[in-house]
Amino acid sequence: MEVVITSSPGEVAADAISGHVHPGAVLGLATGSSPLPVYEELLRRRDAGTLSFDGVRAFTLDEYLGLPRSHPQSYHSVIRRDFTDRAGIEVDGPDGEAKDVPAEAARYEAAIAAAGGIDVQLLGIGTDGHIGFNEPGSSLASRTRTKTLTPQTRQDNARFFDSVEEVPVHVLTQGLGTILDARHVVLVATGATKAAAVAAAVEGPVSAFCPASVLQLHPHVTFVVDPDAASEL
Ligand code: GLP
Repeated sequence: MEVVITSSPGEVAADAISGHVHPGAVLGLATGSSPLPVYEELLRRRDAGTLSFDGVRAFTLDEYLGLPRSHPQSYHSVIRRDFTDRAGIEVDGPDGEAKDVPAEAARYEAAIAAAGGIDVQLLGIGTDGHIGFNEPGSSLASRTRTKTLTPQTRQDNARFFDSVEEVPVHVLTQGLGTILDARHVVLVATGATKAAAVAAAVEGPVSAFCPASVLQLHPHVTFVVDPDAASEL
């Protein structure tokens, strides 16, 4: 595991991602605030003519269950608005409106496999150490399935909704085992609120209590953290 402490996490993570961008590449994308500077930097490089997204495909990690895809806070809408529509990249993700959720989870896993697997997976991290929506207690070998959000995560994500009551309780998320299948994982964390989770993920025991700690088992992981998020390392 490589840990880069930098005051320019967007640029450092964009460097790591850019190395994988070529026709036929498959990107794993994350929503949330942490990846935004990475997307902005990748788009800047495209605009400068130093990067091309031609022939690149993408998958999102997770989705709220029960939110229509057209809802402005569905992760499908968020990733298109933040990155893929602007980049001209076709994106697939779990369908939060699926009637048969296990069948949708299987379809999504099969779609990733049919694309040849994920070349590079970008991740944020929750304050409780979750990645995707794999909350503490998630099986380290889990595949895409439904999960129940903790009150803390719903509170953390309430800023995107009018009230915490509007944050969906259930989600469909890649499992930890699914995330481990990506060939390179790049996790971005910024701010002091992430410091404890980053320390537990990097230096703590591999444990379902900190789902991100499972990344210690992956052969090619890059943590990109700002000095505040690194303050408990
Ligand atoms: C959500 C997402 C995660 C994300 C986390 C942290 O729970 N499902 O993928 O990493 O939020 O978000 P942020 O980067 O906004 O702190």
